[in-house]
Amino acid sequence: MKTTLSNKLLNKRLAVIGTGKIGGILLRAFLKHKLVQPKRVHATVLYADEVRALAKQKLGVRISTDNRAAVRHADVILLAVKPQAIREVLEDIKPEMKPGKLIISVVASIPTQLIEKQLGLDVPVVRAMPNTPCAIGCGMTALAKGTHARKEHMEIARAMFEAVGRVVVVEEKQIDAVTGLSASGPAFIYILLESLAEGGVKVGLPRDISTLLAAQTMMGAARMVLDTGDHPALLKDAVTTPAGSTMDGILELEDGKVRVTLIKAVMKATQRAKELVLES
Ligand SMILES: NC(=O)c1ccc[n+]([C@@H]2O[C@H](COP(=O)([O-])OP(=O)(O)OC[C@H]3O[C@@H](n4cnc5c(N)ncnc54)[C@H](OP(=O)(O)O)[C@@H]3O)[C@@H](O)[C@H]2O)c1
Repeated sequence: MKTTLSNKLLNKRLAVIGTGKIGGILLRAFLKHKLVQPKRVHATVLYADEVRALAKQKLGVRISTDNRAAVRHADVILLAVKPQAIREVLEDIKPEMKPGKLIISVVASIPTQLIEKQLGLDVPVVRAMPNTPCAIGCGMTALAKGTHARKEHMEIARAMFEAVGRVVVVEEKQIDAVTGLSASGPAFIYILLESLAEGGVKVGLPRDISTLLAAQTMMGAARMVLDTGDHPALLKDAVTTPAGSTMDGILELEDGKVRVTLIKAVMKATQRAKELVLES
């Protein structure tokens, strides 16, 4: 099924509207995994300077500031602009939209209904919330379907994002929570990782070794959760020997309210994701 879909995708024409951080990461990953052919891709940015900067990457795709031209020839349109730019972009591409074209939007906060309403068509829209580790095939993406998106549209979106990591399907009302957890999450994790590495430096390890220890430990711990399916608390207990050193470290974490701080970080990021639509 996956191979057939990947083959089907290969013949599709893709427009990437907003080839910034996440749009660029996804585009490069789709090309690397041969999900789309470069000659069938048209990527856009806002400024001519950015067109030149992207051209230097020699991706083999067409790059311009012309959203309409990109959409005119596309079967799948990946929207990856900031929420503040979405209404202007939708107005711009509206004349070129047809119900047969599939929109996949990674734009935070913007509901599928807003896109459907503004385009005024029964256009299939899939909302996707990926994260930056898609760049190395280790991404986490949640998908939610819009009113007119059918099974085949979800399958196309799934095939695209499965090529760059894991995929879950959620209800659209849960997407802002996904934004607060797994889309913002890498930033939270980097802070934790950097802090652990600083700890290592404080107790005498060279910075490069300390960073490697912290990063590999985080990856190993995450893999333990994913591969065993065990509850994190159970895995934590296996590290914590009676009267050992780990327990002393845990006491410090509890004293520093690390749990409640992380829970609040996800809550705040989710709240902000809900608000962004008001600024669009
Ligand atoms: N970064 C993440 O980890 C992540 C994860 C999931 C979802 N998202 C969502 O993805 C969206 C983009 O985020 P980002 O971090 O990639 O932002 P970004 O780096 O600022 O990229 C935005 C891109 O949109 C382009 N753009 C702006 N107005 C445009 C227009 N009218 N027509 C065509 N292109 C236009 C910009 O072009 P110029 O460079 O020329 O200004 C830029 O390339 C946001 O809605 C964000 O919530 C991001």
